[in-house]
Amino acid sequence: MTATPPDPAAAFKEQAAIAAAALVEDGMAVGLGTGSTARFVVAELGRRVREEGLRIRAIPTSIVTEKQAREVGIPLSTFAQTPALDIAIDGADEIEPRSLNLIKGLGGALLWEKIVASAAARFVIVADASKYVDHLGAHCPLPVEVIPFGWENVARKLGALGAQVTPRRQRDGSFFLTDEKNLILDCVFGPIMNPDALSTALAETVGVVEHGLFLHMASQTITAGPDGLRVLE
Ligand code: 5RP
Repeated sequence: MTATPPDPAAAFKEQAAIAAAALVEDGMAVGLGTGSTARFVVAELGRRVREEGLRIRAIPTSIVTEKQAREVGIPLSTFAQTPALDIAIDGADEIEPRSLNLIKGLGGALLWEKIVASAAARFVIVADASKYVDHLGAHCPLPVEVIPFGWENVARKLGALGAQVTPRRQRDGSFFLTDEKNLILDCVFGPIMNPDALSTALAETVGVVEHGLFLHMASQTITAGPDGLRVLE
């Protein structure tokens, strides 16, 4: 078994996560993100529940986060019981600092993440400072979640929009499946100059369930890096 290498940005992620978790107040309904930075948020909220008696209810954005939330003692809820959230806190793969537009989904949870974010009065992003980019798509592929049936044709259509498309696979070569048992197509567009137009084109592509452009959704980003904590809103 190969050991996971230590994450050089872990301390920055934790610093941003703890600052964001401090925004959560007694009685709030909270959306819990997915990924290595959101993991620190869940850990800190669990600590506050156990040690400070913080009373919250939370909706997780993935099965992995649900498991962690249970382990740390955060009470969970559903949209049937809790239609609106006071705050959702999640990570991001790229942040465009002027608009706070994002790419998310390298962790494969973008569908539930977007549903949770869209139900929240405040959507707060936590990240280390390496996630800032001048234009979305500069460093990351854009993950697009698609229905397995006919995915090859959807991939061709995404190619016609200008992407180099690769279906995401696991180490053993099998397709990566999301929590909803869909596929992820990782789409390299290069710098995305008009994210709104691309978002519309993706949403209009039959077979696309959701995509990783999170536009006009984030209320605030909290990042940490060698220059300290930075809050944008
Ligand atoms: C998962 C996501 C994550 O929030 C994103 O990939 C950032 O993850 P990390 O905090 O590990 O860098 O969108 O679908």
